[in-house]
Amino acid sequence: MDVRDILALSPVVPVMVVHDLGSIADAAMALFAGGIRAFEITLRTPQALQAISVLRQALPDEAIIGAGTITQPEHLQAAVQAGAQFGVSPGLTPALAEAIRSQALPFLPGVASASEVMQATNWGFDTFKLFPAAAIGGVPLLQSFSGPFAQARFCPTGGINAGNAAEYLALNNVLAVGGSWMLPADKIAQGDWQGITALAQTALAQTACALKPAH
Ligand code: 3PG
Repeated sequence: MDVRDILALSPVVPVMVVHDLGSIADAAMALFAGGIRAFEITLRTPQALQAISVLRQALPDEAIIGAGTITQPEHLQAAVQAGAQFGVSPGLTPALAEAIRSQALPFLPGVASASEVMQATNWGFDTFKLFPAAAIGGVPLLQSFSGPFAQARFCPTGGINAGNAAEYLALNNVLAVGGSWMLPADKIAQGDWQGITALAQTALAQTACALKPAH
């Protein structure tokens, strides 16, 4: 399975920052119940690697667990050891690109400019996290990229929410959107798992509204 297959399975990818290992499985199960199939666990907290292992155990096999915020080659190694099934980075360096090439891990590298798309394409990538999507130009930027980078596909992340996800998903060069809006801190604190399931369902319903020609 490559990274495009993963995004096809889950056109909405929750970005999860794990503060509490005790509730991570419930939160992920709530998203799974709402139809989410790919999960990005950001390596931003000390619990993140353990959370990946916990979710690999707790979620059904249809769930694909990835590691996000991979900025160094050693993060990649650690993520694979923890059981990550794909990786995501906010950007790309030569050292990280080299490390990704040496692992058979589907990977979604971050880009934020035309030059970065060109460099990452030269390194063999064709599917990117556009980050931080809203801050660097959002929908008009992606429309502009579709001319010179006709083969590139994107998962915009950063500033995506229930109000604008459909606009992104309607673009032909967008396979999926990512973000943290489906996991509000208050709902996690209250254990409002049904509320989180509802947010996931609403997000995925927008992908159905954003029907576009096959690509
Ligand atoms: C990320 O790492 O992808 C972002 O922090 C997610 O951005 P968001 O919180 O605006 O969705």
